[in-house]
Amino acid sequence: MHVGILTGGGDCPGLNAVIRAVTLSLIDQGAAEVTGIERGFLGLLTRASRPLDRQAVAGIVAEGGTILGTHNRCDPFRYFGAGGADRSAQAMDYARELGLDALVAIGGDGTMAIADRFAALGLPMVGVPKTIDNDLFGTDRSFGFDSAVAVVCEALDRLGTTARSHGRVMIAETMGRYAGWIALEGGLAGGADVILLPEIPFSVEAVAARCRERERRGLATIVCIAEGAAAIGAGLTVQDRIADSPDPLRLGGVGHWLQHELQPQLESEVRTTLLGHTQRGGSPTAFDRVLATRFGWQAAQQLRAGRFGEMVALRGDECTSVPIAEVAGRNRCVPPDHPLLQAARGIGVSLGVA
Ligand code: F6P
Repeated sequence: MHVGILTGGGDCPGLNAVIRAVTLSLIDQGAAEVTGIERGFLGLLTRASRPLDRQAVAGIVAEGGTILGTHNRCDPFRYFGAGGADRSAQAMDYARELGLDALVAIGGDGTMAIADRFAALGLPMVGVPKTIDNDLFGTDRSFGFDSAVAVVCEALDRLGTTARSHGRVMIAETMGRYAGWIALEGGLAGGADVILLPEIPFSVEAVAARCRERERRGLATIVCIAEGAAAIGAGLTVQDRIADSPDPLRLGGVGHWLQHELQPQLESEVRTTLLGHTQRGGSPTAFDRVLATRFGWQAAQQLRAGRFGEMVALRGDECTSVPIAEVAGRNRCVPPDHPLLQAARGIGVSLGVA
């Protein structure tokens, strides 16, 4: 069997651990050749690939990013962007030329949607879920999330000591476009006093009231806000628009927006830190390395069993799989009755609602 493997969408800690686990599992079990496709689906068009063997994946379990490179704008079915030309036939030609029997696509909802279309053209696919946002439908967890939460937690710890020294309100803005998992778990871990999520439109007045109440008690306030959070009646805070991207909006800046809304209402100084790509870079945590290794091994089992068109998934503590077609392009948001929200409310964290 000849298996291709690619990483699509944004990078994420743990991608290399998956690449390593798929490669080692297939090579160890014999009779499989593994080829890495470079820069996601773009490599199928630019004909960029390289063989993966024991040596190529040695020592990469702890490395962040992806040794294969990635691309978050290349969809061969609309190259580049909506209205772009369909170059999928060219990609299929290269896959045939390489002699690929199957392709492992490691990525998020966008990558799964593209994988599903290639499967329909006759290229057997196995999906592996990746996103620091933890918002991919069909799996309870994706690797990379734990690493991102660890970064947010450490940042809030650090912001806390400086906030308390100056009696300030500190706003930390996290990633999380449509789902607030990173802000919720990172905020709880870092002891945030206010947590604002895309799923719960917030009232600036409610946030200001919480800050004032803490000011009266002589306390600093830590606000953890997801980039996709928005005040009631306000839209998303968009930093940039990338016209040729399948997902053109680049979010960022809602933390600063909130700072300017809060400042006139408070005595303490309000400052903002945008955590941005620090949440995506660096080494995966031990948890993510283990999860990524389990996912890679599970993908290899699916390949060996000829179970194509399925994405590896975690349900509870069990590795299982779901049809790629079911998850393609779908997100998993924080439900309003989630136990973590109940716990947050229970310990007095403000979610920005009166
Ligand atoms: O989807 C993951 C994510 O980290 C989002 O939270 C964020 O909006 C986006 O990627 C940013 O990606 P990039 O900077 O690569 O465009």
